[in-house]
Amino acid sequence: MGEKRYTIGVLTSGGDSPGMNPCIRAVVRAGIAHGAQVIGIMDGFDGLINGEFRPLGPRDVGGIMQRGGTILHTRRSQRFLEKTYQREAIRNINSAGIDGLVVIGGEGSLKGAHVLAGYGIQVVGIPGSIDNDIWGTDMAIGVDTAMNTIMDAVDKLRDTASSHGRAFLVEVMGRNCGYLAVLAGIVCGAEMVITPESPATVEEVAAAVEDAYMRGKTHAIIIVAEGAPLKVVDLAKALDEMDVGFDTRVTILGHIQRGGSPTAFERMLATRMGVRAVEALLEGKTDVMVALQGRNIELVPLSEVTDKTRSVNPDYFKLAHMLSR
Ligand code: F6P
Repeated sequence: MGEKRYTIGVLTSGGDSPGMNPCIRAVVRAGIAHGAQVIGIMDGFDGLINGEFRPLGPRDVGGIMQRGGTILHTRRSQRFLEKTYQREAIRNINSAGIDGLVVIGGEGSLKGAHVLAGYGIQVVGIPGSIDNDIWGTDMAIGVDTAMNTIMDAVDKLRDTASSHGRAFLVEVMGRNCGYLAVLAGIVCGAEMVITPESPATVEEVAAAVEDAYMRGKTHAIIIVAEGAPLKVVDLAKALDEMDVGFDTRVTILGHIQRGGSPTAFERMLATRMGVRAVEALLEGKTDVMVALQGRNIELVPLSEVTDKTRSVNPDYFKLAHMLSR
């Protein structure tokens, strides 16, 4: 009988993000190239608890590079927060002969990865979330594609906004983080950006829209992060009652931002991170996350990642405001 090959388990967890599929592909193919075997775990941590495992060969990950979502499916597992289920997951990892686990997901998922490492499971995390709120990495998987989806949508809204002379309030995702909103403000040339980090009152928004009108603009675009205290629907109602020059319309982009074919940048980032995660496991590393820092893919301790939150570069808010005139 041959020696048992190193076995890598891979799962995606939390909110899906475009680029997870190229990342899974990279983990599978890099793992096999290095002589390991790979097992896909379905439905994130719920799949670990339920033992939903399936072997993944090179052909199983063919043709997925350009697909949004995740072929392994994902869940926001409530059960995994409980010790009873964590124990069940570990039992299943051990009986499947998994030597090292790759967890692709956002903040909550990386916390889950850190919990498993605490039980002695070898784990490497990969940041995947469109919000770009994960500490330690310049970019998470999904951010660039979501940003491009937003840009495409706002460009289209601008066409109709200027035809009709309207103000559009556009809500973008990013639960507690205004990264997508402020970048959208810059790359789409919005008149104003409202985020949890940089909130605004109804009066301030009204003044900005009226000012845009009086300076001769044909329309106004206000980007609002979903986590901002001021909600787009309430804001639109208030603006309509105030007469600010432009009529107001609301667009909530919603989950459209989470889908779609990953951009070239995304595919490259996901591929590099997937390969590095496999190498890290084979080097014996554990309780770490792969991270883009400048041009390099580095390893950062999961304890730090789960302890801190990435904040948005404050210069971006100044830039968005300065260029909105
Ligand atoms: O964390 C990613 C994210 O898309 C957030 O921007 C958003 O608040 C949340 O997930 C939505 O979660 P769900 O898909 O569970 O509704």
